[in-house]
Amino acid sequence: MRATRCVNYGEPSALKVETMEDPVPAPGQVVLSVEAAGLGYVDALLVQGTYQVKMPLPFIPGSEVAGIIEAVGEGVSGDLIGERVMALSPRGALAEKVLLPVEACTTLPDDMSMEAAAGFLISYCTALYGLETCGKLQPGEHVLVLGAAGGVGMAAIDVAKAMDATVIAAASTPDKRDAAKAHGADMVVDYSDTNWRKSLDAMLEKRGVNVVYDPVGGAFSETAFRCLAPGGRHLVVGFAAGEIPKLPLNLALLKRSSLVGVDWGGELRADPGFNGPLLHKLCDWVVDGKIHPEPTASFPLEEAGDVLQRLLTRKMVGKPVIRMGA
Ligand SMILES: NC(=O)c1ccc[n+]([C@@H]2O[C@H](COP(=O)([O-])OP(=O)(O)OC[C@H]3O[C@@H](n4cnc5c(N)ncnc54)[C@H](OP(=O)(O)O)[C@@H]3O)[C@@H](O)[C@H]2O)c1
Repeated sequence: MRATRCVNYGEPSALKVETMEDPVPAPGQVVLSVEAAGLGYVDALLVQGTYQVKMPLPFIPGSEVAGIIEAVGEGVSGDLIGERVMALSPRGALAEKVLLPVEACTTLPDDMSMEAAAGFLISYCTALYGLETCGKLQPGEHVLVLGAAGGVGMAAIDVAKAMDATVIAAASTPDKRDAAKAHGADMVVDYSDTNWRKSLDAMLEKRGVNVVYDPVGGAFSETAFRCLAPGGRHLVVGFAAGEIPKLPLNLALLKRSSLVGVDWGGELRADPGFNGPLLHKLCDWVVDGKIHPEPTASFPLEEAGDVLQRLLTRKMVGKPVIRMGA
């Protein structure tokens, strides 16, 4: 099989496609013929060796896949061969085949494309967990999504709209703001402008937002917290800006608002069963047309390293997906 392997930590653009042995399923495992793999900012950090958890070398990057089950190990029903599924694969997605425990696989809704499914699990489950479970988002509330044209941000726009919220998308360039709007955002704000809080106040007639969805961190976080209305919830999702911000605690008091940590991966590790109902709900929303998880762009395997590099350098618009055989 062809695969992209990381042998040394470093710039993702140095990754190369290699030919490797096909995997063989052990008991309880399946071999997935990968059709598409979703990429995110964390995958780029893992290749650099700068993520909070280091992946032992060598490894095949990529954490989420969609494809067709082509072989099963002992104890797994042969009826599953040919099934269209999506799965988290903590490593190994940037390959034509991947080994997975059978219980990691979820059957795709009929009309869901492989590209949509490959970029779905992490960003959409995080969005629903963040907005509903952690953020207690209510219909009619206003949500400010930072990094709104990133993979995690785009999913948050879609899920917040499905929950009948009004979405303000913050992004740094006109093409990113256009993409956020095309994905359902009601309003957009250029948060690279130092006066962006004033623009937001003008848009909302100083009413403030009820929820901030923050996968970015850095200097944006404190400004966003200051935009909260009383009773607001600032959801800490990630730190794509690189800097972990420090918030003066008096702001929580003055704004009568809370800071809420959102660690979907941590929750999954603590309670592997918790995600089933969440994913079930999201799949129903796909079938009902309430959410629209299409990736913004798909690329061949040979370009995976460049795609990861673009994520690190803030040059990607939307959720990128690698299409095998493209
Ligand atoms: N908590 C959880 O459970 C969970 C789950 C999944 C991912 N995450 C986290 O979510 C974050 C976003 O992931 P993603 O895959 O959506 O990434 P992404 O597609 O690269 O989007 C991140 C966005 O952050 C903004 N940004 C601001 N400063 C940046 C910088 N210096 N470098 C790169 N981007 C910058 C960019 O938008 P602008 O150019 O518009 O500013 C970019 O679109 C990551 O930190 C990841 O660890 C958390």
